[in-house]
Amino acid sequence: MQQFSDENFGERKREQDMADTLQMEIYAYKKHKSAIFKKFIKTVKTTDGCDFRSQGPGKLKELEDWLKTKYRNWPAAGLSISSSSSVTVVEKLRHREKAIYACPYRGLFAFREEDAEFFFGREAFTNKLVAAVRKKPLVAVIGRSGSGKSSVVFAGLIPQLGQEGGYLIADFSPKNRPFYRLAEALISLLEPQMSKTERMVETQTLAEALQQGKLTLQKVVEGILQENPSAQRLLLVVDQFEELYTLCQVSEERQHFLDQLLEMVGAAHQKRMPNFTLVITLRDDFLGQALSYRPFVDALQHSDLKLGPMNRQELQAAIEKPADKLKVKVEECVTERILDAFIEEPGNLGLRIK
Ligand SMILES: Nc1ncnc2c1ncn2[C@@H]1O[C@H](COP(=O)(O)OP(=O)(O)OP(=O)(O)O)[C@@H](O)[C@H]1O
Ligand SMILES: [Mg+2]
Repeated sequence: MQQFSDENFGERKREQDMADTLQMEIYAYKKHKSAIFKKFIKTVKTTDGCDFRSQGPGKLKELEDWLKTKYRNWPAAGLSISSSSSVTVVEKLRHREKAIYACPYRGLFAFREEDAEFFFGREAFTNKLVAAVRKKPLVAVIGRSGSGKSSVVFAGLIPQLGQEGGYLIADFSPKNRPFYRLAEALISLLEPQMSKTERMVETQTLAEALQQGKLTLQKVVEGILQENPSAQRLLLVVDQFEELYTLCQVSEERQHFLDQLLEMVGAAHQKRMPNFTLVITLRDDFLGQALSYRPFVDALQHSDLKLGPMNRQELQAAIEKPADKLKVKVEECVTERILDAFIEEPGNLGLRIK
């Protein structure tokens, strides 16, 4: 990291706020390249003791040449404005993952499998979930909207099962075409090497076969497990199960889809299909709809895990540990303020660093 001393930046504070993200760093670079760089920069100091002295305003080229010798990937670098009277050059992260990991929180998005290393606070629930998946043919994670259901399945359960090995995992959310979405998830296990076009054709064919009852889900799952003899179990995850009620407008399709899944769960329960587990995430406000269908109620008996808001300790871990991982210390008072705000408004987990 290197520091550019300067004279005076009128807009410094506003731009400090704006320079907090990578995009803004680039913005700041572009802006300062034509404005502050030309006008104000006189000296450049680096933490390793190097020094650049500008010959005067407008000597951007000279400065850039100097930077090129210091930074291999300059000018793909950005500027951020620090709150003291200096400009800091930060190397633009070369890899997208690294850029994403510059912020370990997911904002309003659910945590995904690849975010597992920054997923904290749900360890106890994850363990319960893993234990339930090992024993039961159906596990329904039910909780309020935004309570973290998808995150705990994708960044908690799935990575843990992945470490154990022996699981084939397919996941999807039903959207308005549950059979198509199911077929798409299964095809990715059946024919992982297919081209995109082939995959689309095969997905359509499988979706129609399942929907028209020409093929049962059980047959497809058996086929997948035969193709993958090293896998002991197949885990099917249907995230946002409530979409079956909100987005799937054709009631016969919804019913038929539900029946296929329940038949599969029944077969697993009766040990006809012992190596299959279905995990669903369902918003509590759609539980009533689920409970209005008796076969679904029967299947859900003893199969649901209720996800509540995180307690203070869990929340503290969710706030502080991702930062710890990046060797950043969150000030105690900041954690306390977030915790107090959250406790007043539980269910709203989206952590956003602005
Ligand atoms: N352990 C965690 N630590 C920090 N943030 C979390 C954690 N779990 C979830 N979140 C955040 O909470 C928000 C809601 O998470 P998620 O989407 O997983 O919830 P959900 O219950 O599936 O929501 P929906 O009902 O909308 O499907 C997201 O912003 C996510 O990043
Ligand atoms: Mg969700």
